[in-house]
Amino acid sequence: MSLKTKDVVLSEDRPKTLLLQKHSDYLASYGLNKNDYEYCMTEYLRMSGIYWSLTAMELMNQSSRMPKEEIISFISTCQDSESGGISACNGHDPHMLYTLSAVQVLAMYDRLDAIDVEGVVKFVSSLQQEDGSFFGDKWGEVDTRFSFCAVMCLSLLHRLDAINVNKTVDFVVSCMNFDGGFGSKPGSESHAGLIYCCVGTLSICKRMEVLKADELAWWLCERQLPSGGLNGRPEKLPDLCYSWWVMSSLSMLNRIHWVDKKNLEQFILACQDSETGGFSDRPGDIPDPFHTLFGLAGLSLLGDTSIKRVNPTYCMPQETIDRLNLEPQILL
Ligand code: FPP
Ligand code: ZN
Repeated sequence: MSLKTKDVVLSEDRPKTLLLQKHSDYLASYGLNKNDYEYCMTEYLRMSGIYWSLTAMELMNQSSRMPKEEIISFISTCQDSESGGISACNGHDPHMLYTLSAVQVLAMYDRLDAIDVEGVVKFVSSLQQEDGSFFGDKWGEVDTRFSFCAVMCLSLLHRLDAINVNKTVDFVVSCMNFDGGFGSKPGSESHAGLIYCCVGTLSICKRMEVLKADELAWWLCERQLPSGGLNGRPEKLPDLCYSWWVMSSLSMLNRIHWVDKKNLEQFILACQDSETGGFSDRPGDIPDPFHTLFGLAGLSLLGDTSIKRVNPTYCMPQETIDRLNLEPQILL
């Protein structure tokens, strides 16, 4: 095993302040030219792209720059009348991931009336299996991320009663490892993205007491590297999106102070593109809406008051979660 830590070095000329106006301009113009190579190549995840961009804009109080009516009617056209599920884009198959993104967007817009809510409830509940796990779609892949999407989606619709919540929790618990972490299915290695999904599921189901909180928080804070950035598993490079997967989990565990906040903030700011706006996975890489959301949401968790408060469980503005009267559990 190599003893050399995989990490990046932050250069002296990196961005050190938050470039809010640039990020708003970057997201407002993203996708304006529908023939852009990058825009065309990301069609298969369009619905999530809208969720990442709109949430980032909401957190910056800039969502009026997004084409609201166009987005709402696009979502309506992506619902499959037979299964009730929602796809990433017209002509694609419905999937749990994009059904969740669509519901998150409509919840932020307070326009859940634009879809057939009962259809969504039927789709999500039909994907639950006997052991409590969830398929992502009719093709039958099981992953803890789909458990999370299912409970988040149904809770936003106030319809958690449509699934077996106890079995959902039992399946997630069966994916817990000796280190307190979680993977995608029973026996899979701990991974920070899936830890967020499993802790988030338990937060929504209000069953956080099943966690080994200290072991898990220790594993999570060990993800911080000398650059201040966080990786998703041991021996991996830091990646900005892990500031979200790790910090939101630590936040639900009420142990956010177990990381060096100042160093993490410097890493997040260094991932900004000072020319185009937007954040990338690592300093100097090309920005995208996904990492832009997690850069802003990570800074919000760290207490940056120029950004709106983000809810660590839902990755949506706290004001939306309050309006919907949702109270995901946080460990005391
Ligand atoms: C890393 O994936 C991230 C995850 C496994 C978590 C994904 C979470 C969801 C889809 C739930 C919905 C999310 C939100 C914010 C509401 P990766 O495939 O990039 O992992 P890698 O870094 O190991 O390649
Ligand atoms: Zn990433």
